[in-house]
Amino acid sequence: MDSMLYFCSFLMVILLAILLQLVLFSPISPQILEIPSASQTFTSNSYLQRVSKLGEGFLDRPEDVAVDKMGIVYTATRDGWIKRRHKNGTWESWKYIGRDTLLGLKVSSSGHIIVCDAQEGLLKVTEDGVTVLASHVNGQKIRLADDVVEASDGSVYFSVASTKFGLHEWFLDVLEAKPHGQLLKYSPSLNQTSVILDNLGFANGVALSADQDYLVVCESWKFRCLKYWLKEEMKGQTDMFIDNLVGAPDNIKLAPDGSFWIALIQVTAPGLNFIHKSIASKHLVASFPKLMKWVIGAYHKAMVVNVAADGKITKGFDDPTGKVMSFVTSVLEYDDHLYLGSLNCDFIGKLPLTTSTD
Ligand SMILES: *[C@@H]1O[C@H](CO)[C@@H](O)[C@H](O)[C@H]1NC(C)=O
Ligand SMILES: *[C@@H]1O[C@H](CO)[C@@H](O)[C@H](O)[C@H]1NC(C)=O
Repeated sequence: MDSMLYFCSFLMVILLAILLQLVLFSPISPQILEIPSASQTFTSNSYLQRVSKLGEGFLDRPEDVAVDKMGIVYTATRDGWIKRRHKNGTWESWKYIGRDTLLGLKVSSSGHIIVCDAQEGLLKVTEDGVTVLASHVNGQKIRLADDVVEASDGSVYFSVASTKFGLHEWFLDVLEAKPHGQLLKYSPSLNQTSVILDNLGFANGVALSADQDYLVVCESWKFRCLKYWLKEEMKGQTDMFIDNLVGAPDNIKLAPDGSFWIALIQVTAPGLNFIHKSIASKHLVASFPKLMKWVIGAYHKAMVVNVAADGKITKGFDDPTGKVMSFVTSVLEYDDHLYLGSLNCDFIGKLPLTTSTD
């Protein structure tokens, strides 16, 4: 009997030691996060299963999509390329950057490409090559630059999802649930980068309103997007643009009618809600990242919504099972079509807006 008791205590000590080990060597110092319940219900319509696939097999997880004045479509892929699709439908591997960390990109008014590199910062890509526009802010290296938009005065606003974790550890930022995100401004005339907003919960998509009176910046694990005012009387103020979203907002883009398209990552699986309420399980998942794929729904679903300038959702499209598209990260409206980027597909989805809204 005594030896049984001894054995059980021995097992307890081992288990405690393992737990202590997990906490002591955990890469995160997490806090509890309440995932808000969605303020609007969404009826699945599977419209995203109707996309045609652009560049299938040629595009390794094209996270974002941009289009220039000529209608040439640009994307950055995980194999380190900026690739583009000409009007005649042919794809070209345009510029090789060589890192798998390229995220949001835009065509500037002068025609070059500005791309966020989650390793090096903000890059400018032209026919002649690649230059770094911003690599540091206040003496700190910029990590996890995520999305970018250019204002008509030439200022470039871009988000930094996390100042603590890199792209390949993005889930640690989510697990830790402390706001390490920023909104930055790069002024080409001064060649200077400054912090506009700090303490954001994984700052992700950035867009400018049609009148350029405000920016919208999305905070992924806060399930909301903020308005940051640029217009003179209100400069520097922030307001809520939309909160309690039905997924974690990724990229946001201005639509031709002045509304916004937001890709919503489907993370709100029951497993994630549980983990966000338990510090111990956060440490456990942080130590065994493969568990993360089980608890988030992103790899098995996709959803995008259109939000009017007043912050009301007017329509939404989804793929509820990820049959055709999953992990959709961006949605661009151009020429009556939606172009959809994804971190789990090898193509850009193209959807006619006219037939999908009937
Ligand atoms: C398509 O257009 C591009 C750019 O103008 C050109 O380089 C390419 O040869 C064209 N391809 C075809 C098949 O016409
Ligand atoms: C801008 O500043 C950075 C250092 O902050 C420097 O490396 C770079 O050469 C500058 N670029 C231009 C165009 O002056």
